[in-house]
Amino acid sequence: MTDHAPWIPVDIDVERASPARVYDYLLGGNWNFDIDRMMARQAIDRMPWVGDLARYNRQFLGRAVRFCAVRGIRQFLDLGSGMPTAKSVHEMAWDIDSGARVVYVEQEPVAVAHGGLILADVTGVEMIGADMRDVEGVLNHPTTSALLDFEEPIAVLMASSLHYVLDDDEAERTVRRYLDAVAPGSYFVLSHISDSGADGADKVKDLVESSKTTSSAGVARSRAWIEGVLSGLEVAEPGVVYTSQWRPDTQLRLVHDLPAHSSLLAAVARKP
Ligand SMILES: C[S@@+](CC[C@H](N)C(=O)[O-])C[C@H]1O[C@@H](n2cnc3c(N)ncnc32)[C@H](O)[C@@H]1O
Repeated sequence: MTDHAPWIPVDIDVERASPARVYDYLLGGNWNFDIDRMMARQAIDRMPWVGDLARYNRQFLGRAVRFCAVRGIRQFLDLGSGMPTAKSVHEMAWDIDSGARVVYVEQEPVAVAHGGLILADVTGVEMIGADMRDVEGVLNHPTTSALLDFEEPIAVLMASSLHYVLDDDEAERTVRRYLDAVAPGSYFVLSHISDSGADGADKVKDLVESSKTTSSAGVARSRAWIEGVLSGLEVAEPGVVYTSQWRPDTQLRLVHDLPAHSSLLAAVARKP
């Protein structure tokens, strides 16, 4: 991986795993390095259903984007977007309206480089390299200003990304500042790893604990904390549930028949 393909920035540290690339590997993608695959395998050893966790989260995201689009949302701000892998948020939204606009925000350089390549000729969709905690920087970024109209509703997406903001107050403040900036009628889409479930909570704690010394450190939060972040919003049915339980397309199979094994609580909520 020293010979640099266009999607690999020249200054990338290939010895340091990244959540975006570990997640990409778990989803079966190719935009990852040995160190990412090693970390993914370690995670699988600790929590054998971690691949399901990734897939069920991505499927939740697809259903949530569709839910928003069907309700007339045409603008999406995807915070901690990861690689724009198939199916990307803009492709999901375009199933409903091909005019939907998407700003992807991602701090992982490989994801940003890859995103830049595949979005180069795509109209109405851009990726910016930024830390989503820099709310003013994201909102005032020229790309954001050019693509998103803050007088109109926007879906703010934080799918499996808020748990990388380790400080509780900062995480809550970050959400609030984005939601303050968007118009009434906007939506907030959230999925967040949680150790509140009875089934698998010990594995979640173990996984999160082991991540603390890595570049993929995350934090599991309680159901009460996650519900608190949604306060003041109209939480859509079925409320805060595991990703696999959020308006599933099929009742045929949930994660090993134990929804808690999707390990991420999820919700979609509307700003009144
Ligand atoms: C597990 S992936 C989820 C990707 C996508 N949102 C999804 O649900 O399929 C989490 C992503 O959040 C990104 N991320 C974490 N903290 C971030 C931050 N402070 N600013 C921007 N991106 C961040 C990581 O780089 C990673 O790509």
